[in-house]
Amino acid sequence: MYEEHFGFNELPFCLTPDTQFYLNSKWHAEASTVLNVCIEQGEGFVKIVGEVGTGKTMLCRRLLNGLPDDYLPIYIPNPYLSAEGLFHAVAHELGIDIDEANSHIVLKVIEEELMQLAVLGRKPILIVDEAQSMPAQTLEALRLVTNLETEKMKLLQVVLFGQPELDVILSQNAMRQLVQRITFSYHLRPLDMDEVKAYIGHRLGKAGYTGAPMFSNAAIQLIARASRGTPRLINVLSHKALMCAYGKREKTVDRNFILAAIDDTEGVSRPGWSFWPRRVAKVA
Ligand SMILES: Nc1ncnc2c1ncn2[C@@H]1O[C@H](COP(=O)(O)OP(=O)(O)OP(=O)(O)O)[C@@H](O)[C@H]1O
Ligand SMILES: [Mg+2]
Repeated sequence: MYEEHFGFNELPFCLTPDTQFYLNSKWHAEASTVLNVCIEQGEGFVKIVGEVGTGKTMLCRRLLNGLPDDYLPIYIPNPYLSAEGLFHAVAHELGIDIDEANSHIVLKVIEEELMQLAVLGRKPILIVDEAQSMPAQTLEALRLVTNLETEKMKLLQVVLFGQPELDVILSQNAMRQLVQRITFSYHLRPLDMDEVKAYIGHRLGKAGYTGAPMFSNAAIQLIARASRGTPRLINVLSHKALMCAYGKREKTVDRNFILAAIDDTEGVSRPGWSFWPRRVAKVA
């Protein structure tokens, strides 16, 4: 595409959460610390909630890649499962070959396997992405898994990543028992203006760009406002703006290319004047 024109080794603003491009922004760094501390303590049932496109799957992948060898990740990326489906998915990830419809039996077999892993010093950790798409009953069934413990320790730690809808589901009365087990919750926020600048520069650098700043300050400000600091939208707008600049054989990206990118993107609009606090005229 435009890699050669700008001097990139690869596309800087892909939509896949490639951990090679990870920027340890303020919020992502805080969330990572919460995750690491909780998991180290061994009592963890952690929930990370963030709006669409704020970087939850990115954090999830970083967690999976960075777990020490004694941890055993049980990764459920698509948790739209029945309670039975969840138990079977956990069993499958644990390497248990079980063809059994009765959930109690499956849970019992899981417990036995977790006991054995504990004896071997392995630390299983259930990591669920997109947890907002878990049916309420399945979330409730998760409680049964978190109940598995010896007198001294939990047999399975849990990390849930989800959009804010997860909190809506968890606020239901029927969920209060599960909610009480959550030891830490973290809300992942969008990037602020300075971080958007750092983010764009960081991704350009990771893609191999070494020249002078490619995006003007006005362009970055416009991206920050239109995207409201959401990394996925920053990627979409930046990629489209680079395409426009490439089309005009330009090597830098100014405000006009961002405006064109905004106009070409569903769900994003040009920031209006209403963004600024209104002055209320005084009537004499
Ligand atoms: N800290 C970060 N550093 C670099 N890129 C990031 C960061 N956070 C998010 N991104 C990028 O933003 C995009 C969206 O990230 P991701 O898919 O992780 O969001 P999400 O919160 O899981 O979204 P959804 O709610 O739709 O599942 C990806 O392209 C990812 O690479
Ligand atoms: Mg995601």
